[in-house]
Amino acid sequence: MSRPMALTPDRLRDALRAVRFPGFNRDIVRLGMVTEIEVDGGTVRVHVRPGTDRPDVLRQLTADIERVLGADPGVRKVEVRITGAAEGRGKDPFAERAALPGIAHIIAVASAKGGVGKSTVAVNLALALARVGRVGLLDADVYGPSLPIMFGTAERPRATASKRIQPIERYGIGLISMGFFLDERSPVIWRGPIVMGIVRQFLRDVDWGPTDFLVVDLPPGTGDAQLTLVQQVPVTGAVIVTTPQDVALLDVGRTMAMFAQVKTPVLGVVENMSGYVCSQCGTEDPIFGRGGADVLAERFGVPLLARIPLVPAVREGGDSGHPIVVAAPEHPVSALFRVLAERVAAAAAQPAVPVPGVHP
Ligand SMILES: Nc1ncnc2c1ncn2[C@@H]1O[C@H](COP(=O)(O)OP(=O)(O)OP(=O)(O)O)[C@@H](O)[C@H]1O
Ligand SMILES: [Mg+2]
Repeated sequence: MSRPMALTPDRLRDALRAVRFPGFNRDIVRLGMVTEIEVDGGTVRVHVRPGTDRPDVLRQLTADIERVLGADPGVRKVEVRITGAAEGRGKDPFAERAALPGIAHIIAVASAKGGVGKSTVAVNLALALARVGRVGLLDADVYGPSLPIMFGTAERPRATASKRIQPIERYGIGLISMGFFLDERSPVIWRGPIVMGIVRQFLRDVDWGPTDFLVVDLPPGTGDAQLTLVQQVPVTGAVIVTTPQDVALLDVGRTMAMFAQVKTPVLGVVENMSGYVCSQCGTEDPIFGRGGADVLAERFGVPLLARIPLVPAVREGGDSGHPIVVAAPEHPVSALFRVLAERVAAAAAQPAVPVPGVHP
């Protein structure tokens, strides 16, 4: 008869890597939420510090932990002990969250899906916001930084006298991107914890100066960059970019759920590439169908902030280092980005409203 493998805290901790923090693509062990595992005969006691008191999240976590450990033949009973968010501050994953001095609003531009136009929207939104305030733009896509190409610069940031990083200035806004610190041959093979360190440093060690809006261009998904951002700083709100396909909308639902888990308001949705404007005849052809973002806005109770058509000038602006808002301010799409900026500024000034349909 084969004996079950000995129950050890290490083995159980390994098993717990299968439990993701609800809404995130990261497990609770990696997130440092499992503080202790006790084994007492066939009884296993897991101590977790999830950094939230939300009952739905705690219920889900407890059920997942019980299910994963309960599958071990040697385990007869699983007890989950939760340390509340308010207790034992200093160890919980959100304990570092602190406002950045001098920065009024942090706006995250996000989507679960790649290639939907986050960077394009972030860049043009940031440039349009510069009409109403001082703006910084942080490229949190450490693996695939976009700002060097979109602004046509590979200038290396300098250190200030106080040993902080001076952002690069272009078109009146401050920029920081991992792309400014790499030469083209650098392999980008960093692991998660390094990504977290870089995003943290871009938030805390960059001399942003007095800033009305810090726009953060996130990589796709719900990974380390997203998590670090919401753990480190209070994000005023997220702008979610989507294309009108149904699949993209599912992904957006996931992104919304992620922000809801960490109590970050979603300011609204931008539907990008929402139709093709024929450069010959000027008519707009809804190649991806219509109304998807309307449905989403209705389902989650957040506004549709803008609908940006697919136009070659947008891509050309991004490829050539001259974003459309500054290269062609008279272009109808530039006007759409200015309206988007006004809406984002107005929404940022409102007190945070929880997302209906996602919050309990
Ligand atoms: N409205 C638009 N019209 C035409 N081209 C666009 C539009 N929006 C984005 N593009 C082009 O689509 C491509 C992808 O856009 P972008 O890099 O902004 O997406 P992303 O979501 O940031 O991608 P990633 O997930 O890789 O970060 C780029 O070549 C960009 O120029
Ligand atoms: Mg991008």
